[in-house]
Amino acid sequence: MKSQDIRKAYLNFFESNGHLIVPSAPIVLKDDPTLMFNNSGMAQFKEYFLGNGTPKSKRIADTQKCLRVSGKHNDLEDVGFDTYHHTMFEMLGNWSFGDYFKKEALAWAWQFLTEVLKLDKDRLYVSVFEGNPAENVPFDQEAFDIWKQYVSEDRIILGNKKDNFWEMGDQGPCGPCSEIHIDLRSNEERSKISGRDLVNADHPQVVEIWNNVFMEFNRKADGSLEKLPAQHVDTGMGFERLCMAMQNVTSNYDTDVFTPLIEKVEQITGLKYTSNEVKNISEEQNKTNIAIRVIVDHVRAVAFAIADGQLPSNTGAGYVIRRILRRAIRYGFTFLNTKEPFINKLVEVLANQMGEFFPEIKAQQQLVTNVIREEEASFLRTLEQGLQLLEKVVSETSGKEVPGEKVFELYDTFGFPKDLTALILKEKGYTYDEEGFEVELQKQKARSRAASEVSTDDWKVLIAGNVETFVGYDQTENDVKITRIRKVDSKKDGVLYQIVLDSTPFYPEGGGQVGDKGTLVSANETIEIIDTKKENNLILHFTKQLPENLEANFVAKVNTDLRTSTSKNHSATHLMHQALRAILGTHVEQKGSLVNPNYLRFDFSHFSKVTDEEIKQVEDFVNTRIEEQLPLIERRSIPIQQALDEGAMALFGEKYGDNVRAIKFGQSMELCGGIHVKNTAEIWHFKIVSEGAVATGIRRIEAITGDAVKAFYKNQEHTLAEIKETLKNPQDVLKSVATLQEDNAKLKKQIEQLIKEKVDGLKNTLSNEFQEINGINFLAKQVDLSMGATKDLAQAIGNFKANSFVFLASVDDNAPNIHCYISKELVAEKGLNAGNVIRELGKYIDGNGGGQPFFASGKGKNILGIKEALEKAVDFVK
Ligand code: ALA
Repeated sequence: MKSQDIRKAYLNFFESNGHLIVPSAPIVLKDDPTLMFNNSGMAQFKEYFLGNGTPKSKRIADTQKCLRVSGKHNDLEDVGFDTYHHTMFEMLGNWSFGDYFKKEALAWAWQFLTEVLKLDKDRLYVSVFEGNPAENVPFDQEAFDIWKQYVSEDRIILGNKKDNFWEMGDQGPCGPCSEIHIDLRSNEERSKISGRDLVNADHPQVVEIWNNVFMEFNRKADGSLEKLPAQHVDTGMGFERLCMAMQNVTSNYDTDVFTPLIEKVEQITGLKYTSNEVKNISEEQNKTNIAIRVIVDHVRAVAFAIADGQLPSNTGAGYVIRRILRRAIRYGFTFLNTKEPFINKLVEVLANQMGEFFPEIKAQQQLVTNVIREEEASFLRTLEQGLQLLEKVVSETSGKEVPGEKVFELYDTFGFPKDLTALILKEKGYTYDEEGFEVELQKQKARSRAASEVSTDDWKVLIAGNVETFVGYDQTENDVKITRIRKVDSKKDGVLYQIVLDSTPFYPEGGGQVGDKGTLVSANETIEIIDTKKENNLILHFTKQLPENLEANFVAKVNTDLRTSTSKNHSATHLMHQALRAILGTHVEQKGSLVNPNYLRFDFSHFSKVTDEEIKQVEDFVNTRIEEQLPLIERRSIPIQQALDEGAMALFGEKYGDNVRAIKFGQSMELCGGIHVKNTAEIWHFKIVSEGAVATGIRRIEAITGDAVKAFYKNQEHTLAEIKETLKNPQDVLKSVATLQEDNAKLKKQIEQLIKEKVDGLKNTLSNEFQEINGINFLAKQVDLSMGATKDLAQAIGNFKANSFVFLASVDDNAPNIHCYISKELVAEKGLNAGNVIRELGKYIDGNGGGQPFFASGKGKNILGIKEALEKAVDFVK
C-alpha cells in the first residue's frame, strides 16, 4: 500500500466506527504556554481531557503533524542516526472523550492492524502497565485480560512507568498505556532471538507502532496524581513506522514517505543513498546516509512549521526551527559537500507528495522555498566566516589542543557546531578541550534556565464545574465571581496570580490583539488586571495582588480607553489587509500581526519593497473605507464553510472550529475573534508610519489610527513650525528651503574653485622651497588645507620634480594628517618607502596610516606633534 492509502484506510476505519474525522491542528501551538509545538495527537484536545470544554464529538480521529524537538519529548539528536525517529512525523490517532474505553480501543487497534492491514499477528507484541504502588496506580489487569482474547500470554509484556505510563509534559493529563510493537526482522533472525526480548530495547526493527493511553489522571504541579472527571482514550500510531511495516522495508526512510525526497537529494548532490537492506557499507557511505536522512527529515519539519506560520528567528519556537534547519545545512555542508543552498529545492517534492492531504504546503510552496533558501544562504556564509575564525584560533594556539572556550565561542556566537569544529581540527592535526567546552556550555545553560525559570502552582478551585463564558463582545463590565486562582512565579515577571471568572468581559490575547487590562471591583477593594490570556480554553486574568476576599461579588471592568484604541487598530488591520491584496495582489497573505492600543503591525508575504506610491494607495484605500462609514457586520457563529463560501479570509496555521465568527466591513471579510469598531468612521484616519523587510518575502508595515494620527500630525506641525522659525518665518517655506539649497550649491562651487586656486598657488611657492640633500629633492612643510587637498598637493608637487621626497602635514577637522610622496626612482634605487615614513613619523602625532612605497597617508590625534614630525622627516634622506 502507498502511504497515501494507508492514511486513508486508517481514517476510513475509524470513521466507520463512529469517529468524526478532523484536520490536523497546526504544528505550532498558540494557546498553551507549556508546549511550543504540537508534540502528539492529543495536544489539541488537552482541554477536553481536563474538562475545560466539550468536544464536537465524543469520538474523534485524525492524522496530526507532530514535532518532537523540545521539552519532554525531544528526539532531535537521534534523527539521522537511526531509521525510525523523526523531528516531524504524522501521528494517526483516535480518541474517546468519556465514551468508549479499553475494551473497544484495544479491539479496534487489533482489528485494524490484523484484519484491515493484514499485518502478520505473529510479528506483533503488546505491553500493559505493571502498576506503580508508590503512586497508587495498580497493574492494568483489565487491559491484560482484554489482550488475552487476541494474543497468547507470552506476547503480553508488562511495562514500567517509563514505558507504559504516558504523560504529555511535567503537568497535565496522563495515564497507563498499552502499546503495540512490531518485529520486522527476517525469519532467520526471529528464530534466533524472540521478538519479545527486543521490545523496548531500542532495536531498529522491533519498534512500537501504536500507543493506547487510558487517560485517567491529571499530574499536578506538586507531582501528585488526581483522578480526571471522566475516563478517556488517547491513541497514537506512528504513521511512518506503519508505512515501514506495510511496505516490507526495515527503515522509515525506505518508505515512499521519504524516497522521493532522497532521490531529489541524490540528483542534486550526485551522491547515492543506500537502503537499509544493503549491508556492510563503508564508513564514508554511512556518513552520507546519515546526512541524507537528517536533511530529508528536517526539511519536512521546517517546511511545515513555516507553512503553519512559524518563521525561523532568534527566539522561542522560531529559534528551534532555525536550529533544525541549520542542523540539516551543516550535515550537507560537511558530509555531502554542498556549499550552495539546496534544501529549498526539496520543498517542491514535498508539496507534490503531501499537498493533497495537507493543502497548506502546496498553497505556500513559494514562500516556504524562499524562506529556506535565504536561511541556507545566510548560514552558509556564517559557516565560511566560522572557518576563517577557526583558522585564526588554530594559529593562536600553542600546542595541539584548542581551548574549550574558544570552540564554545564559535558555537555560541557563530552557531558553529562543535562536532564540525572537531572534524576540521582533526584534519589539521588538532584536538580541542572537550571538558572546557562542556563547562562553558553548562554555564550558559544555567544562565538561560535561570532566566526562564517558571514555577506554576496547581489551581485552587473556588467554584467547581463552571464553564467560563466570554461576554466581551457585548459589554465591558460584568458582575462576576472568581472560580479559581493560581500562582505563577517566574524570573521574568516575578510573582503573578491568574484568576479565572465565571464569566468575563476581558478579551484574552489572541489573533494578534493584546489582552484587555482593567479592574476587578468589589464593595471593599479594587484589583488591577494587568493582562488577559487564554490557556486551554480558560481565560486567565493576571494580577500582582489577589483580592483579600476571594468569595466576594466583583464587577469586572475593562479599561475602555485602551480597548477602544485597540479596536480601531484591529479594524484598520482588516481594511489594510484588504487594501494590500487589492493593490499588491492576492499573493499577499497575513504572516503575523500585532494590534495594541498604540499601533498596529502587520507582516505579510510580498516579494519586493512596497513603493511610496503603493503605500499612498494603501492609505487612500483604507481612508476611503473609513470615509464610507461602513458598519460592522458581525456574524458571531456561522458554519465555517458558509463563511469561506462568502469569501471570508482564513489564515494558515490557525485552528478554526466548525462554527466561526466572521467580521465584515463592506467587502472586507475575515474569520476573526477580535474586538472591532462598530463603524469604520470611528477609526478616524489611518496612516502608515513604516515599511520594511522581516525576512525574505515577508514585509512588515506599521501604522496608526485615531488619536495616534492626531498626535502624529501635531508632531509634524510642530517640526514645521520650528523649521519656519529657524528660517525666520518666511512666507513660503518651500521656496526659502529651495533658495537655501541653491545658495549652498553655489557656495560649494565657489569654495572648490578657491581651494583649487590656493593649491595651485602653493604648488608654485613650494616647488621653489625644495632642498637638495644627498641628491634628493627634499621638502617638509605644514600647509593650511583640508586633508584631501593636502594629499593632492603632496602628489602634485612630488610629480613636479624628479628625485623628490615630499612630506606634508595639515590640520583638518581638529586632527593632524600627514602625507609622504617619494619618486619611484628613489624607491627603486635607495629603498625608501613612503609607508614606513608615515608609520614612523605618525608616532609623533599619535596616529597611524599606510599606503604604497611611493605614496602614503596617515591621520592622528596630537596636533602638537606635527612640528616634530616635520623636523624628523629629514632623517630619512640624510
Ligand atoms: N499521546 C500518546 C502518544 O503520543 C498516544 O504516544
